[in-house]
Amino acid sequence: MDLESYSILECIFVVLLIMSPAYLANTFAVLTGGKYPIDQGKLHNDGNRILGDGKTWSGLIGGTIGGMIVGYGLIILIHEFIWESSNILILFLLSFGALFGDMTASFYKRRRNLQRGDKFALLDMYDFIFMSLMLCFIFQRDWLLSWILDGWVPLFTILVLTPFLHRGVNIIGFKIGVKNEPW
Ligand code: CTP
Ligand code: MG
Repeated sequence: MDLESYSILECIFVVLLIMSPAYLANTFAVLTGGKYPIDQGKLHNDGNRILGDGKTWSGLIGGTIGGMIVGYGLIILIHEFIWESSNILILFLLSFGALFGDMTASFYKRRRNLQRGDKFALLDMYDFIFMSLMLCFIFQRDWLLSWILDGWVPLFTILVLTPFLHRGVNIIGFKIGVKNEPW
């Protein structure tokens, strides 16, 4: 991918599109979630739930697939991407990675005695993007490095705009009644 040929605004837009499976995975998890808790209601030895009722199979599967499909629909706007041979794997890593990160954060939150839905500002905002990028770094490093270090805009976009996007989408989800908290 060659981001040099884009203006800064276009570049921000392209980066948001590339990362859209990760952003959308969370949204779809909220919509499809709530059934079949992944920890099956079990407690950790600290007496708290392992993950809690906010992490379910229906959310994990629906979120991963929803993020992949709708993210792909958005990404085909940038033709370079669809000709990547391994793009389905990339879509999966971005989408599943987001929910895996979210799940890892929940595990950590439960160990800190925080209940389902309790706020943990920085962790809630970055957990999903961090794990998405981490999985891409492990399994699709050449692809990730082909755009993320192309100038300062990609990392800037991800680090600075992610909290706003995350918060914005959650407020909308809260207002329309699909999310229990606005964070
Ligand atoms: N969700 C789900 N399964 C997932 C992720 C999310 O079912 N793997 C659904 C749950 O209904 C959850 C909602 O999406 O309540 C919002 O997700 P999130 O804010 O991540 O969960 P919280 O309820 O805040 O729980 P936690 O404190 O563990 O983050
Ligand atoms: Mg939450």
